Amino acid sequence: MDSKWNHFYKKPFQKRLDLIAEEAGLTPDQLDLIKQQFSQPSGQVIENYVTDFGLPQGVAVGVVVNGHSHLVPMVTEEPSVIAAASNGSRLLAAGGGIQAEVASQLTGGQIIIKNGAFSQLRAFVADHQAEMIEIANDSHPSILSYGGGAKRLSVRQLDSTFTSIDLMVDTGEAMGANMINTMLEALSNWLRNQMNAEITMAILTNYADEAVVHVSGKVPLAQLATQSMSGQVVGRRIVDASQVAQLDFRRAATHNKGIMNGVDAATIAFGNDWRAVESAVHSYAARTGAYKGLSTWQMSDKDLIGQMDLPVPIGFVGGANKVLPLVAINKQIAAIHNTQEEMALIAAVGLAQNLAALKALVTEGIQKGHMNLQLKSLALSNGAQDFELPQVINQLRQLKNPDSRAVKQILKTIRR
Ligand code: HMG
Repeated sequence: MDSKWNHFYKKPFQKRLDLIAEEAGLTPDQLDLIKQQFSQPSGQVIENYVTDFGLPQGVAVGVVVNGHSHLVPMVTEEPSVIAAASNGSRLLAAGGGIQAEVASQLTGGQIIIKNGAFSQLRAFVADHQAEMIEIANDSHPSILSYGGGAKRLSVRQLDSTFTSIDLMVDTGEAMGANMINTMLEALSNWLRNQMNAEITMAILTNYADEAVVHVSGKVPLAQLATQSMSGQVVGRRIVDASQVAQLDFRRAATHNKGIMNGVDAATIAFGNDWRAVESAVHSYAARTGAYKGLSTWQMSDKDLIGQMDLPVPIGFVGGANKVLPLVAINKQIAAIHNTQEEMALIAAVGLAQNLAALKALVTEGIQKGHMNLQLKSLALSNGAQDFELPQVINQLRQLKNPDSRAVKQILKTIRR
């Protein structure tokens, strides 16, 4: 069917904009804003490019990982996330900082076979393992020069119809999605000629149980004390909160969302595919068949001790790393030099973020700290000056539904 949207991607920028403006009834001011945000590099990355969508970037401070204090660039639209990451990191730094260990760093992919006899397929892959690894590596030989490459093949029966041949690859410093898909397609083509079975598809898996970071840290109980609760009580209540996230999938989903507040924000700032990380994390949280909280907190006599295993399938090179100039600057700010350091830092921020959220939840409640910062951003975005903030926030706090109109009204009164 002929439509004005046919070959939209081939039209020059101005023409695309004219079409969108006409369709949506955009004003000249709105069009100007879109044009102001335009940046050529992004235009080369995605299709039907129109403009850049800016998200705020801040920096969490004092994130101590394996003895080194890092600044962590974080991209997020949510107030209080970066304050919480710094807050959790500060508490964990008091206990010596976060220890992070990358247990393994392999990425996986699968070839799905329909109607192949499972035991024959298993025997076939066992007999041809070396040859198949060679075929995979030959399809992407440059990875060998970086010390990586295809490592292992195994076979899993999914049901009486489908079987999965799983390939594990060391993708080196790259996230490796394209590399794995190239290897899988080369193997599929070879398999098609070797056996009489239907290949349904060949694609990487975002399940990343071999790209897991183990993070742990402790907080001296005295550091957790608030005006109305001893550190001992706060610690015990955080342990309770962590236990509930093991028992109840509804709570686990929110517990893990708190972790992802930090993980996503850092993953985006480092130019990675955060959908892949999200997918890996949540499938890992459900690996036992029940969806559970990813971190756990326990108490010793003196400390609150937290730990977490978190899949972080990312890369230090390739992808958006090349095209988004801020990514390199962010890595410099974070003082990270390779994939493993990046994985460790992202997981560490997740643990710190979780601690801050749990502490707020079991003490004063999330709204006080979160709402203070949300009200601050509401006030600022409606023209409040720094010196007016305490008064504006105080008055907003008294309102049932603080909104832009309320800020403007308060400012009018104060300024009068
Ligand atoms: P506080 O204890 O009232 O603040 O915390 P404080 O003044 O004692 O400051 C403690 C530290 O927090 C500071 O240390 C900063 O590191 C940081 P200092 O620098 O003073 O030595 N900090 C800030 N950093 C930047 N800007 C600020 C700022 N204020 C404090 N303005 C705070 C206040 C909001 C940090 C605390 O209440 C908190 O950590 N709350 C958790 C907030 C949170 O998790 N927000 C995410 C949104 S809620 C959500 O999505 C997840 C959730 O549902 C997850 C779950 O259910 O598990 C909660």
